[in-house]
Amino acid sequence: MRSKIEDRIFDPRGAKIAARNTGPAKMATDRPAAAERSRSLMHGIFVGEVQALEGAGRTCYDFDDTEAPFQLKLDMARQCWDEARHCEISLKLGDHMGTEIGEYTESTFLFSAACNPDPVLRLCGVNRALEGLAIDVFSTMKEFGNESGDPVLEFCEDWMLADEVTHVKMGSDWLRRITASDKERQQEALEFQRTIDKLFSFGGFRGESEDNPVHLARRFRQMAGFTEDEITELVDVAAEAHAEAIARSEAAATASGA
Ligand SMILES: [Fe+2]
Ligand SMILES: [Fe+2]
Repeated sequence: MRSKIEDRIFDPRGAKIAARNTGPAKMATDRPAAAERSRSLMHGIFVGEVQALEGAGRTCYDFDDTEAPFQLKLDMARQCWDEARHCEISLKLGDHMGTEIGEYTESTFLFSAACNPDPVLRLCGVNRALEGLAIDVFSTMKEFGNESGDPVLEFCEDWMLADEVTHVKMGSDWLRRITASDKERQQEALEFQRTIDKLFSFGGFRGESEDNPVHLARRFRQMAGFTEDEITELVDVAAEAHAEAIARSEAAATASGA
């Protein structure tokens, strides 16, 4: 079933769950909802992989060589190969974790970002913002696999993580290469990336504190071509979103007379 990303992120039940204050939202192994959380996240990863495969395939096909250099298309073709493998791995991990395809609602947000008419905006929105998010999600899942004593999950996430670092690096390199003499286009692409990054930091989903379900993987982001300033900016956005989420849950608790 398909849902809108805004409905999922701004689901009013999120503030109520946070108001119960039952401990970190993170998939800690001592949390009762850890199994459910990890299965739902795995389902989301699988759907993201399918859309990433479609998106990279489109970029090989949609542009002529003046709009997107042939070497960029070769990178996208390599990415298709990786994403196809990730689809298979994620599907098998879903089986391994006991999840059926279609058990959770999903959005087609990544595919929408991959349909942007400017290839540079696609690379910023998909490769840098959403696959950057995949780096954070995969390293969190890998850690969960390690803590829960599941080497299959741990190693699969580690292999996919290595590929995602390469995909984000492709985004960083092509952004700088193509817009080297067009700062306006570069700013427009970075703004597109910022909008997506903010969306996925809402509700305190991603950050550096124990309470955040997904942790920002600094080291892998450096390897993927993020500058220190860019990482600091992401951390600030996440901290701001986390503070807003706490204020919202406190307001919800006050309104319900708790
Ligand atoms: Fe992937
Ligand atoms: Fe990827």
